[in-house]
Amino acid sequence: MGESILGLKRTHRCGELDASHVGQKVTVMGWAHKRRDLGGVIFVDMRDRTGILQVVFNNEISGEIFGKAEAIRSEYVLAVVGEVVRRSPETVNSKIPTGEIEVIANELRILSSSETPPVYIEEDTDVNETLRLKHRYLDLRRPDMQRNLILRHKVAKIARDYYDENGFLEIETPMLTKSTPEGARDYLVPSRVHPGKFFALPQSPQLFKQLLMVSGFDRYIQIVKCFRDEDLRADRQPEFTQIDLEMSFVNVEDVLQINEGFIKKVFDEALGVKLETPFLRMTYQEAMDRFGSDKPDIRFGLELINISDMVENCGFKVFSDAVKNGGSVRAINAKGCGRIFSRREIDSLVEFVKIYKAKGMAWIVVEENELKSAITKFFSEDEVKAILERVKAEPGDLICFIADKNEVVYDSLGQLRLEIARRTNLIDEKEFKFLWVTEFPLLEYDEEEKRWVAKHHPFTSPMDEDLQYLDTDPGKVRAKAYDIVLNGTEIGGGSIRIHDQFLQSKMFSLIGINEEQAADRFGFLLEAFKYGTPPHGGLAFGLDRLVMIMAGKSSIRDVIAFPKVQNASDLMSNAPDIVEDKQIKELHIKLSNQ
Ligand code: AMO
Ligand code: AMP
Repeated sequence: MGESILGLKRTHRCGELDASHVGQKVTVMGWAHKRRDLGGVIFVDMRDRTGILQVVFNNEISGEIFGKAEAIRSEYVLAVVGEVVRRSPETVNSKIPTGEIEVIANELRILSSSETPPVYIEEDTDVNETLRLKHRYLDLRRPDMQRNLILRHKVAKIARDYYDENGFLEIETPMLTKSTPEGARDYLVPSRVHPGKFFALPQSPQLFKQLLMVSGFDRYIQIVKCFRDEDLRADRQPEFTQIDLEMSFVNVEDVLQINEGFIKKVFDEALGVKLETPFLRMTYQEAMDRFGSDKPDIRFGLELINISDMVENCGFKVFSDAVKNGGSVRAINAKGCGRIFSRREIDSLVEFVKIYKAKGMAWIVVEENELKSAITKFFSEDEVKAILERVKAEPGDLICFIADKNEVVYDSLGQLRLEIARRTNLIDEKEFKFLWVTEFPLLEYDEEEKRWVAKHHPFTSPMDEDLQYLDTDPGKVRAKAYDIVLNGTEIGGGSIRIHDQFLQSKMFSLIGINEEQAADRFGFLLEAFKYGTPPHGGLAFGLDRLVMIMAGKSSIRDVIAFPKVQNASDLMSNAPDIVEDKQIKELHIKLSNQ
């Protein structure tokens, strides 16, 4: 290491020293993590990004250095020259890699002092996140945050290597662009040179990567910042990073294979986890029918069971009406939960499903010789028996039913499934379960706007066998679109694109974009498609989400160096902030409060 500070050169990082260095003279630099003063001997745990090293200052060896060491406080930055020695057997710390040795100091420089830090620099802190984010530079000194960012670096590095080995080129696309529709609001940047005009920060490089295919680059990848002005959640930030890629001359299976190859490699090399490929593939419809979700967590069962056919003509109007009105009745068998859950707990599940618009939740507790339920009275004995058989009920089980339109049934039972799994610890947190969800619907109906909108984005190709329904029954058309789901989180998604200008125009008109609007917003893409467009498709991984799950975290804020909080602001730098009047004037902007 080449640094030279006050005539000293660092020879090793703290965590790199072990028994193989015994007898060597070393120079280490880092932060004072803890100091213990035992009278004539002072022990200082020195910390850097590689770990912790015990340094010993002994009054008998050098009174002058010992005197300086007495001044050391937490988070002082030190340079120490000393000799690596073996610790006496009773003081060996087998928990840390440097635990067999210590450095006996014979030179000390205090490079910088520190005030008492407002955030403890220790492994797992329960300090509230607001304080952590305000002093993020200190929070990032904590070993777990350092590990997360080191892991993130490794994932990005492995991505670049893997895609390079497979013939992908990294090409940058602009940040000051025109709006790309990914369904969120744009962040806008006013133009000084063009009064009244705005750039949009990219929600993704979607249009540019398609143009790169038209240009013949064939295989593109970019690790790229994307910007979306949408409501934040634990797995959503206004600026986030995609591993974005596009390929020419491929079908769906080609895209899935190349990308699961990356996941396999990154889990092996960054975590030492061996994954089996190919990953499970499941159509959107199957995912909804079995799990009530297009991003199911398949680490546990509790699958949905459709009983609509059995209750269409039953005496319980809640059930029969739901089916007659085009909806369904579906159930979950919460195995053994009839024994575990109290009546109050079942009532709380009823309240829980209401968050997801269910009007209620019917249930049956199956006991050895009887059934506890408010609804069995509406059914004949045979009907009850048939339902219990369908859901494979056994004594001790709790059967939960929701009747409603399909959308509500899927959503509320899908969420109930997760809730029951959480309450009964069904989820093995150490497991990584991947799933490709394929054949998404091309369009979905927006009730508010009373029109069809693209489910993925308007450049996604319909499936060939469903083209016939584009005019007559657009809701039935499936797309060549896919998501990759890990433990119930969507970590990536993509599609095969439309490469035919006529089909692309038709798609725009289906979603209510007329020719003039299409020409105005995407004219350059439609124009490009006139000059020889290869069939192409691609995908983007959410890098933050991928690293979050690999690091075992539940928020992407923990794998982003400087994230924003819930209201999309940065607590440390206080962005966004007001700017000078002069700047606003130059941008030809008038604020509504002036
Ligand atoms: P999509 O919109 O599905 O597809 O985004 C791809 C992946 O990016 C991640 N992601 C986010 N992560 C953090 N914060 C956010 N606000 C956020 N929004 C999305 C998700 C998601 O799966 N251009 C297409 C890809 C393509 O078709 O090739 C696109 O952007 O993990
Ligand atoms: P009610 O006749 O409305 O008192 O409902 C009888 C039982 O059916 C109660 O346990 C309700 O929670 C349940 N229930 C009501 N609406 C629904 C629904 N849409 N789906 C399933 N169960 C329901």
